[in-house]
Amino acid sequence: MTKKPPIRLGVNIDHVATIRNARGGAHPDPVRAAQLAASAGADGITAHLRGDRRHILDADMQRLKDEIDLPLNFEMAATAEMLKICLEVAPHAACIVPENRAERTTEGGLDVAGQHNYLAPIIRELMDVGIRVSLFIDPEEHQVHAAKSTGAPVVEIHTGAYYEAAIATQPKRIAAEFDKIKTSVELANSLGLEVHAGHGLTFHNVQPVAALPEIVELNIGHFLVGESVFMGLGEAIKEMKKLMQDARTGGHY
Ligand code: PXP
Repeated sequence: MTKKPPIRLGVNIDHVATIRNARGGAHPDPVRAAQLAASAGADGITAHLRGDRRHILDADMQRLKDEIDLPLNFEMAATAEMLKICLEVAPHAACIVPENRAERTTEGGLDVAGQHNYLAPIIRELMDVGIRVSLFIDPEEHQVHAAKSTGAPVVEIHTGAYYEAAIATQPKRIAAEFDKIKTSVELANSLGLEVHAGHGLTFHNVQPVAALPEIVELNIGHFLVGESVFMGLGEAIKEMKKLMQDARTGGHY
């Protein structure tokens, strides 16, 4: 069997902050969660500073940058406000996502094809100071081509529709959504883009995605924070990494 390259796990700690903010205090601290994630084997930390500050706050981002010894992936909408903050924090990476105030979470991918001229200068400004930019897009071929045309080096393929199909337990829909992911991942890789994926990944659906050899990073949050209630965050991260590595090396799934 050909050896597949390793795969990284970026742990999204937004929902530790969701729990903290429910009471308005300082506990649980997302930076402490990021420290724990690092010692459990996370390869990076992802946090989304939303315009409405519903979970991560500005001070969290700065502390994540200053106190955590892992690459920080700053998820952000393409707004002037977020561009300014991201440039100040100077994270390793920025993942540009669409944002809609009424949504519960990031519902769809970025319409890069429709917003190319708006996005390109923002991407350029981030890249000019050495921030590695990724674009969070739906698994659609025209969005992959549009992402490539912006000059961003990375795409993150949105796996949310695959997750929705899995929770509806509709095998045909799961297979169709997985096919879209696979096609987009292969296309992005063939165009020279670094490929990440994420959204809605769990112990139960991660392995087919992790087995795609072109994907170098998965970003996972909600499930890990939820599962930490039952098994602890460190154990949940270790189990997720094990499932990912097993899928990568041809283990069972
Ligand atoms: N990747 C991106 C770009 C996201 O917006 C999110 C959700 O904030 C995730 C990954 C993680 O998704 P989930 O919390 O469902 O694991």
